[in-house]
Amino acid sequence: MAKINDNYLKLQGSYLFSTIGKKVREYEAAHPEKKIIRLGIGDVTQPIAPAIIDALHKAVDEMGAAESFKGYAPDLGYSFLREIIAEKDFKNRGCNIAADEIFISDGAKCDCGNIQEIFSTDNTIAVCDPVYPVYVDSNVMAGRTGDFDDTLGQFKGVVYMPCTEENGFVPQIPAEHADLIYLCFPNNPTGAVIKKEELQKWVDYANKSGSVILYDAAYEAFIEEEDVPHSIFECDGAETCAIEFRSFSKTAGFTGLRLGFTVIPKALKIDGVSVHDLWARRHGTKYNGAPYIVQRAGEAAYSEEGRAQIIEQIGRYKENAKIIAEGLKAAGYDFSGGVNAPYIWLKTPDNMSSWDYFDLLLEKANVVGTPGVGFGPHGEHYFRLTAFGSRENTIEAMDRIKKL
Ligand SMILES: Cc1ncc(COP(=O)(O)O)c(C=O)c1O
Repeated sequence: MAKINDNYLKLQGSYLFSTIGKKVREYEAAHPEKKIIRLGIGDVTQPIAPAIIDALHKAVDEMGAAESFKGYAPDLGYSFLREIIAEKDFKNRGCNIAADEIFISDGAKCDCGNIQEIFSTDNTIAVCDPVYPVYVDSNVMAGRTGDFDDTLGQFKGVVYMPCTEENGFVPQIPAEHADLIYLCFPNNPTGAVIKKEELQKWVDYANKSGSVILYDAAYEAFIEEEDVPHSIFECDGAETCAIEFRSFSKTAGFTGLRLGFTVIPKALKIDGVSVHDLWARRHGTKYNGAPYIVQRAGEAAYSEEGRAQIIEQIGRYKENAKIIAEGLKAAGYDFSGGVNAPYIWLKTPDNMSSWDYFDLLLEKANVVGTPGVGFGPHGEHYFRLTAFGSRENTIEAMDRIKKL
């Protein structure tokens, strides 16, 4: 008889965004006249930049002509894209990353969910609390955790690293050893960033303790402060202990197009085994490459024109973040984030629970955000707003919140 992977049964039933969706649908059905503004899910709203659209059109035409038609893409990505990424994202920042250490994919979610597969199920993982849920759930599915502890709101066997106001939402190196350490900066959900000297401490620790850092830099393009690293490979020695995930989703508005990449240096070895080679093997077996037209679109994001258009788009989201920050300040909220990141992490008023505040905002301001507790117990009494809405909606949402 077939048996299921019963690790899946440990997963917590209602995923955060489906609960939010349900509550919003119910409210809309009861109040069809109300205009709801969504500043919850981190999805972009601006259309793809013109230079990228041009590249897409051109690539589509190539697919329609026998002499330029492309079939399966190379498993690991076209070299035109890998080369330009290596140069612009890494060499230009002093990181010693070669094109063949870059694996193109259809987004960072799959990569940071799948990466755990090439590591032993005996490994322990460390994650931030609050956390982007993919890191935890993918390890639950693989059987790398115990059951969910309802009292603690955490899975057994996982090292949770609290991110609190006291530590500026940047975790301390845990006292307990973890083999795989997930870090995400700029952070989703808190919007926090890590300074280079702090990240260097993690790299030194990982090299000393034989841990691997799984570094999610999906929001790298939002960094504006000088001493904030764009890549973990800006730190000395990171090539022997780190893997980095990047995404075109929030950088270039590709949430619908789908494109990302993972960097695994060849120098990263465990017991003499090349992690790079294992990931190449896994990619080759389970993945048939991101579409040619999307990779050409990705290439256009690095052209002079494309780059300028993207910077302008990100600038518009950053302006939204400022509008949210100013509105919250005027309304007397405590909050952080929103400077090097598209997320604003606010403390709920009067110590309200995250879900009570969600209900209040939905019912009284018709604004949807994300309850912090949905990202982990240390997110309780916090709430996430995103800067990805339209300008008009962001202004209106803040006017409504100020009037609460
Ligand atoms: C921290 C983090 N990593 C990865 C992703 C997923 O990126 P992608 O759209 O490339 O799959 C997201 C998307 O919200 C994210 O917040």
